Amino acid sequence: TLQTWDGPPITIGVIGGSGLYKLSSISPVAEISVTTPWGSPSSPITIAKTTAGNHVAFLARHGRNHAILPSNVPNLANMAALKHLGVKAVLAFSAVGSLREEIAPKDFVIPSQIIDRTKGVRRASFFGFGEEEGVVAHAGFGDPFCEVLRPIVHETVKETLKEHSPDVKVHEGKTVVCMEGPQFSTRAESLMYRAWGGDIINMSVLPEAKLAREAELAYVLIATATDYDAWRPSSAAVNVAEVMESLKANVEASNVVTTKLLDRIAQEVDSDDKPSIKGIKDSMKFSIMTRSD
Ligand code: ADE
Repeated sequence: TLQTWDGPPITIGVIGGSGLYKLSSISPVAEISVTTPWGSPSSPITIAKTTAGNHVAFLARHGRNHAILPSNVPNLANMAALKHLGVKAVLAFSAVGSLREEIAPKDFVIPSQIIDRTKGVRRASFFGFGEEEGVVAHAGFGDPFCEVLRPIVHETVKETLKEHSPDVKVHEGKTVVCMEGPQFSTRAESLMYRAWGGDIINMSVLPEAKLAREAELAYVLIATATDYDAWRPSSAAVNVAEVMESLKANVEASNVVTTKLLDRIAQEVDSDDKPSIKGIKDSMKFSIMTRSD
């Protein structure tokens, strides 16, 4: 276990969600225990190398044994650790409930929007607390995901799954509702989220995506559906057993997808001239409200 990394540059970070506690399709080369000013990340970080020679940093959002509740994920430490390792882009996996008939369990979704239904218990900004107490910043978040990488992730996931799992559909341009949990939604809430325009629901995309924006990291969510939540009148509302049933297939498909995806995205973040890097660089430049005079 290393404290830091002095090998080849690591440009991509992967955050594994429920079920995805390691990347089994690419070779691990080192394990790093990073401590940040915001504490330790959810898990040690595994550095892995793709067959094309790209290095990526992987961390398990809920810990390797799934012992961390969505409300307690050390999101600041996770983002700070990835930033410290030199990561430019983060691909975040997450199991989600489906709020739409056409998004079936086991399908993939690359969403474009988020509705925040977390309840203020999660620290959601690097600014305004602790060492940053006297600094107020308002990051732009109208497009919460990287608009350069999102279509590339969608295309690559679609192509890869067409070959390996032709029954699995890939949806894009959808809205993810992020709820607090840990309990699942009531039927009334589930119906309300549909009426609001929500397509899928999870407990983890926030504040992760907000902190990625503040850390100037390009961030894309790769959601895998596990259930139909609680809105379908004739079906039982979601429970963990149902989620677990889809999870195994989702994790297999996620591992298939990562091999091609990581090499494809590595090409998009390998120099500061790439649109994805230019797009995220300086996101915070005009966001500080605090006066320095
Ligand atoms: N994660 C997986 N399924 C979910 C659901 N129905 N609601 C919230 N988070 C989820």
